Amino acid sequence: MLSVRNIETWYGPVNAIKGVSIDVAPGRIVAVLGANGAGKTTLLKTIAGVVDPFKGSIDFEDATINGLDPDVVARRGVVLVPEGRQIFPFLSVRENLQMGSFARSDKSDIQADIERIYGWFPRLRERVAQHAGLLSGGEQQMLAIGRALMARPKLLLLDEPSLGLSPLLTREIFHIIARINAETGTTILLVEQNAGIALSTAHDGYIMELGRIVAAGTCAALSEKEDVKEFYLGGSASAGKGQARRWKRRKTWR
Ligand SMILES: Nc1ncnc2c1ncn2[C@@H]1O[C@H](COP(=O)(O)OP(=O)(O)OP(=O)(O)O)[C@@H](O)[C@H]1O
Ligand SMILES: [Mg+2]
Repeated sequence: MLSVRNIETWYGPVNAIKGVSIDVAPGRIVAVLGANGAGKTTLLKTIAGVVDPFKGSIDFEDATINGLDPDVVARRGVVLVPEGRQIFPFLSVRENLQMGSFARSDKSDIQADIERIYGWFPRLRERVAQHAGLLSGGEQQMLAIGRALMARPKLLLLDEPSLGLSPLLTREIFHIIARINAETGTTILLVEQNAGIALSTAHDGYIMELGRIVAAGTCAALSEKEDVKEFYLGGSASAGKGQARRWKRRKTWR
């Protein structure tokens, strides 16, 4: 469904992505794991057309999408939930969800789609008229995912859905991500620092370090790799600062 081939992305003199290739098959949940600064956000932004790759190609459903504007990429069915959510704080929960459907050619069933999203995120239903800026961090993440789903994406890109959330809420969000995938068949590519929850939710995974992919496989296989256990899953469930530092020092992967 998505085929990223050998992309390089630069911010001026900074080479954030140094030749990355990934594949996302239809119906799968694919996780890209990596420490701070690995290039995870840049990878999603490059796929979504927010930044252009200097080299390489991105194919989605047999058409090349690199070089297209983000709104065109979104209309093709690739929708990004950015890091930090970026909901509209002065609009209500309901209005934020309605905004998500604005580029949709098929405007029927919008109310039914909103109801379906309230089914996954009952907390949003309880807060329909509330300004989105007054929601908690977890509720804002739910709203950001709900708003993206209103576009009826074929491929949903999630940038660190666990960011700033408690372990309990992180588990809740990932449980709902798995339900959305199972119930709608929506393909999901997510990036995460929380390797434990991402590897237990996704089907396939990639590990990214300093702009490169250093390991790939099914999540079951990755979870069994000694390096992954030691540097991602060892000790705490989430990659703490010490863990990320040790991890950055590693040069080779088995
Ligand atoms: N707009 C920008 N201008 C210049 N450099 C940038 C910009 N955005 C990111 N970078 C650099 O590109 C590299 C990759 O950043 P990116 O945000 O993709 O990492 P990340 O894996 O998402 O990190 P985090 O886990 O902290 O979100 C970093 O070295 C960062 O400093
Ligand atoms: Mg990031």
